[in-house]
Amino acid sequence: MHVASVGVSKLCFLLSLALCGLLLILIPAFQAPQSGIGIGSTGLRKRSKEPGATTSGDYEPWRRGADALRSPAGGLLPQGEEGGLKGLGRGSRDPLNPKDVFIAVKTTKKYHRSRLELLLQTWGSQAKEQTYIFTDGEDSELRKRAGGVNIINTNCSAAHTRQALCCKMSVEYDKFIESQKKWFCHVDDDNYVILPSLLRLLSSYHPSQDVYLGRPSLDHPIEAAERVKSDGSVSVKFWFATGGAGFCISRGLALKMSPWASLGNFISTAEKIRLPDDCTIGYIIEALLEVRLAHTYLFHSHLENLQKLPTDTVLDQVTLSYGGFENRRNVVAVGGPFSLAEDPSRFKTIHCLLYPDTDWCLAGNPGGHF
Ligand SMILES: *[C@@H]1O[C@H](CO)[C@@H](O)[C@H](O)[C@H]1NC(C)=O
Repeated sequence: MHVASVGVSKLCFLLSLALCGLLLILIPAFQAPQSGIGIGSTGLRKRSKEPGATTSGDYEPWRRGADALRSPAGGLLPQGEEGGLKGLGRGSRDPLNPKDVFIAVKTTKKYHRSRLELLLQTWGSQAKEQTYIFTDGEDSELRKRAGGVNIINTNCSAAHTRQALCCKMSVEYDKFIESQKKWFCHVDDDNYVILPSLLRLLSSYHPSQDVYLGRPSLDHPIEAAERVKSDGSVSVKFWFATGGAGFCISRGLALKMSPWASLGNFISTAEKIRLPDDCTIGYIIEALLEVRLAHTYLFHSHLENLQKLPTDTVLDQVTLSYGGFENRRNVVAVGGPFSLAEDPSRFKTIHCLLYPDTDWCLAGNPGGHF
């Protein structure tokens, strides 16, 4: 009897120890989901941290997925990735149909032969219905070669001026709204869009949320005189995604931009603040709508050192680019069937890594054109 009761109290002691241990393990698990909540960042207006913090420590911005995404407000995390519950909830979401993405490519007549030829042969051929080319000159040859890719003559000036660029952005916006698609993505004609990465990125958000995704072009917010809501005597600070690397906006947010962006209003907004097209997008979203840019480093322009991108992460990026005539060596470091002379932009090489069944990949580029 005595021995048995000692056994029971020992058992109780061990059980309570186990219970305490279990509680200790569970407490952080209960708290974690609260840390990242704040989807739809409209409510989070104050920046809790200096934006520089987003690139500090051992953070590797070129790594794929949620690790590469930081919002300065700490609020806008991809859905299903809050609190370390990685991947949970993904399954309950409707998968993103590639047809729901509108990819606007900004170009000019001068690049129809060179840049667009390459674009249409590579990633454009995989996304014909989603790709909309916005140019400034009629070109029946281009229409013939486009093979299903939408070509829109904006009738905007071919000059590389703020007015001409804003004119094109304005047409892009209107065409997107008209299209009924769920995501607006803008890229330049020297970008390669890695479609699987783009879909993976967008599918972690919902198009009815306020989502503005892109690479901040500076390491600090831009400051401009507020001339839309006030007389210009006060200034506003805001982030914007660099247009040369590409950016995406959800339909929900795009619709809210309408008073300042639709039917030519974009041009007058840009004129009021006297800033380029991509800055004006950032101004409308961050300064007027108080929605934060979700900083992602998966978008790349020719203004960065593209050689620095680790080779094993290249296919996980969302957009790539290449240096122009000024900087022919500024390309991503990927090897493959084409030499640097055969494929100076590396876009054909990337395309063959992504889509090895492409006929000209198998044949080793017999045509050798462009
Ligand atoms: C550009 O002009 C042509 C010819 O007038 C017209 O058909 C087309 O709709 C115009 N494009 C835009 C985007 O307004």
